Amino acid sequence: LRTGRGVAHAKVILFGEHAVVHGEPAIAMPLDVLGVRATVRHRPGELSVVSDLYTGPLAQAPELMSSPRAVVHAALDRVGLPLRDLEIAVVGDVPHARGLGSSAAVAGALVRAIADYAGVTLTEAEHLALVDLGERLAHGTPSGLDARATSADAMVWFEAGVARRLATRTSAVLVVADSGLAGRTRTAVADVAAFLERRPVRGAALIAGLGALAQGAALDLAAGRAEQVGAKMSQAQGMLRELGVSSPELDALIDAATAAGALGAKLTGGGQGGCVIALVRDEAGAVVVDAAMRAAGAVTVWHHPIGPDGAA
Ligand code: MEV
Repeated sequence: LRTGRGVAHAKVILFGEHAVVHGEPAIAMPLDVLGVRATVRHRPGELSVVSDLYTGPLAQAPELMSSPRAVVHAALDRVGLPLRDLEIAVVGDVPHARGLGSSAAVAGALVRAIADYAGVTLTEAEHLALVDLGERLAHGTPSGLDARATSADAMVWFEAGVARRLATRTSAVLVVADSGLAGRTRTAVADVAAFLERRPVRGAALIAGLGALAQGAALDLAAGRAEQVGAKMSQAQGMLRELGVSSPELDALIDAATAAGALGAKLTGGGQGGCVIALVRDEAGAVVVDAAMRAAGAVTVWHHPIGPDGAA
């Protein structure tokens, strides 16, 4: 009997989180040291799932799994398989709720594994529509960025719902540090909407400012201007903090990174917990920044080279 397999990986947003929900562009890249693998096999009986969160019939899975459950149902429906006689296993090391795209990565791996099991080739658009469906349940009004970034194999520019490869001539290292605290994308997205409602003029200026930083950073990346990219990251952090999506713990990691010589640092993803990213010139610098962020409370730190042609 056949086994269907699918994989997807984590992502980091370099520029544009939150602003992207309001129509601004964003830059993201795969964090492919962290991934999710899903497998689908025949198993007579109820549709069941094996994962470190829950193992048992999918119909009885906890609330936390309502989004992957909806993705599984929609994907099975799309490929013409009934909602039974299957066991779906999910394993991965993308930490949950840390702004690294775990929900989109799980959904992406599930959709690929189900299509593979059924022997159906989904178009890119069909694949993304199924992942987006899960993201809508996970946090309300997703921009679609996470769905695309967790399926991409290089840095992407995301605008008006479309992701395309972003050329970069910048060589640097991105240090990603996990605060160990769960991020709250849904609450953070709602808080930004409330800010826009309460202070429409200032809110619109901040959102447009974040979009302009993404635009400028794309040019800097293409021209190999690592220092300017870093400076824009720190400016973006100031705006994200004003919008209310940072936290004292994230600010402490960011301050530690810049004091240790990072070119710039900011939160990544939904914020209010989760991860921060710092840009450094090279691996030697990354080691110093890594140690400083651990001393300031980071529980896990990854180093990710940014290649000169956008390969991450
Ligand atoms: C979450 O990783 C990124 C946000 O911009 C939400 C979204 O784009 O849907 C906060």
